[in-house]
Amino acid sequence: MADSVKILVGTMTGTAELVADEIAEVLTDKGMAAEIELMDDLDAGVFADGGAFIICTSTYGQGDVPDNAHAFLESLKEKKPDLAAVRYGVFALGDMTYAQTFCFGGRQFDETLQELGARRVGAVMNHNAASGSLPEDEAADWAAGWYEALTEAA
Ligand SMILES: Cc1cc2nc3c(=O)[nH]c(=O)nc-3n(C[C@H](O)[C@H](O)[C@H](O)COP(=O)(O)O)c2cc1C
Repeated sequence: MADSVKILVGTMTGTAELVADEIAEVLTDKGMAAEIELMDDLDAGVFADGGAFIICTSTYGQGDVPDNAHAFLESLKEKKPDLAAVRYGVFALGDMTYAQTFCFGGRQFDETLQELGARRVGAVMNHNAASGSLPEDEAADWAAGWYEALTEAA
């Protein structure tokens, strides 16, 4: 099983980064080396060596990924790397007020990674900001479940 994980963050106002901090804390406690990277300067090369990844992203506009995630997502669609050696999870942040595009940012990454051969571990978490709960409060439970799923998938 992977002993390290990269948590890739797409965010506009920083909430997804708070979620990533929580996830990193849980996975570090489990003994993994967890690294958080904002998507700003990423391209498809981040997946070059395979391994375990978590996509942690919000949604804006008409179901778009946040500004800092656009170039990264486009790079994946353009370069179409073979991601067979990638295992990943998705923590999507959204708001049910936008019912037609709820958590589509996370969904876009999920679909793209699957198309490129990456294997998702665990269920996608779709957090609804209108629910009144804070996503960072739900992140620890989700991360613990994701870790179990990763262990079983190995
Ligand atoms: C202008 C605007 C547009 C949004 N559009 C969507 C959307 O289309 N779908 C969705 O699920 N959430 C949408 N949201 C909700 C955000 O994704 C959600 O509040 C998220 O927690 C913000 O996380 P961040 O601070 O990491 O960017 C939108 C929020 C704003 C302010």
